[in-house]
Formats: sequence, structure tokens, C-alpha cells
Amino acid sequence: MKRSKSSSRWLNEHVNDPYVKRAQKDGLRSRSSYKLMELNEKDKLIRPGMLVMDLGSAPGGWSQVAGKLVGEKGRVLATDILPMDGLDNVDFIQGDFTDNAVFQQLLDKLDGRQPDLIVSDIAPNISGVAAADQAASMYLVELTLDMVRQVLKPGGNYAVKVFQGEGSDEFLKDVRSSFEKVFIRKPEASRPRSREVYLVAKGFKG
Ligand SMILES: C[S@@+](CC[C@H](N)C(=O)[O-])C[C@H]1O[C@@H](n2cnc3c(N)ncnc32)[C@H](O)[C@@H]1O
Repeated sequence: MKRSKSSSRWLNEHVNDPYVKRAQKDGLRSRSSYKLMELNEKDKLIRPGMLVMDLGSAPGGWSQVAGKLVGEKGRVLATDILPMDGLDNVDFIQGDFTDNAVFQQLLDKLDGRQPDLIVSDIAPNISGVAAADQAASMYLVELTLDMVRQVLKPGGNYAVKVFQGEGSDEFLKDVRSSFEKVFIRKPEASRPRSREVYLVAKGFKG
């Protein structure tokens, strides 16, 4: 089968990507791990003993980093529609985050505990229809903010991937209304061509 131009370009970039090579060498599950490491270095998000929620966690690059940093006294609650292999200090629930039953399962697992930090790298499968992809992505991102508003500890932090485009400015405003400070970050490990940025929101107003 002949590869499309964009998939050959992706394959080329992937094979030659320094972060992909580094992830393999460092025993990390994905190059995305470096994005969370960079955010954490800059914004001091994760400390030992914390309870962290990781939304859209597969294959587990972020959970791997967070699990290590929270240590044995902390916990990460991760979720994804795809399966994810086990990791130290990480609980995992597989399911569609847009499904109420899955949302409820996550609340049940928390059992009244309030996460110190919620991170989300969730992104839908790309259909290629830009407007539909942007709408699907904003919908998922808004659901992560619903979760934040229901469970995050007052004073807690939230880091979320957003694709800049239709709806992203309104979302930023919405996040600002619930947090003391919001920073827009573009980690070096994020491909420059990608419209993704990360909002790091600190000090949940509760
Ligand atoms: C960029 S990847 C996350 C990578 C991850 N942070 C890591 O470091 O390995 C985005 C994830 O969002 C998940 N996702 C997309 N739609 C979802 C949905 N409706 N419910 C749950 N997860 C979803 C995808 O399955 C995918 O694993």
C-alpha cells in the first residue's frame, strides 16, 4: 500500500525525532513524558505523597513520570479509552471519558478524596476534518474542566492540553474564572508545527 505524503512525513519525523530516541533510551513509554517533565520543572506541579488524576493517559508516559514523582505514599488515578499496562503507584480505569458511567466510576474510585493535581493530555483520534476535530477536542477538554470543578482540592492545580482554534479562547477564559493564575506553555518536546499548547492553571478557587 502506498503511504500518503503526510503519513510518510510523520513516520520520517518519528524515526528521526530526538525525543523518541531519548524516550527509548530512558525506558519511557512515550515522548510525551518529556512534556510533563518540562511543565513540572517550570511550574512545580508534582510532589511526593500527592494524589494526581491523569486524563487520557495511554500509553502511560505521563502516568509513569507522575507515579515516580508522587512515590509510594502518593497515587495516580489514570484513565483512557485504550488499555494501558500497569505502572507503580498508578490505578487505571479503562473507558470513554464522555460516557457518564466512566465519569462516575472515576468519582467512585476517588471515594471522596480530592486530587491535588489533575493533568489532561486527552485528544480525540484525528478524522482529518479540521472543524470536526477541533469541536471533538474542545468537547473532551471541557469535560476535563467539569471533572476539575467537581473534585479538585481547593488550591489545587490543573494542566491541560488545548488545541488553539475555535473555542480555545473561551475555554481559557472559563479556566481563568476558576483559578488564581493561568499560564500558557509550549514545551520544547511539543512539535512546533502542532497547534497544541498546555494551560497550567494554579490555585483552584473551589
Ligand atoms: C496524546 S495521547 C496521551 C498520551 C499520554 N499523555 C502519554 O504520555 O502516554 C491522548 C489520549 O487520549 C485518549 N482519548 C481520546 N479520546 C478519549 C475518550 N473519549 N476517552 C478517554 N480517552 C480518550 C486517547 O486514547 C489517547 O491515548
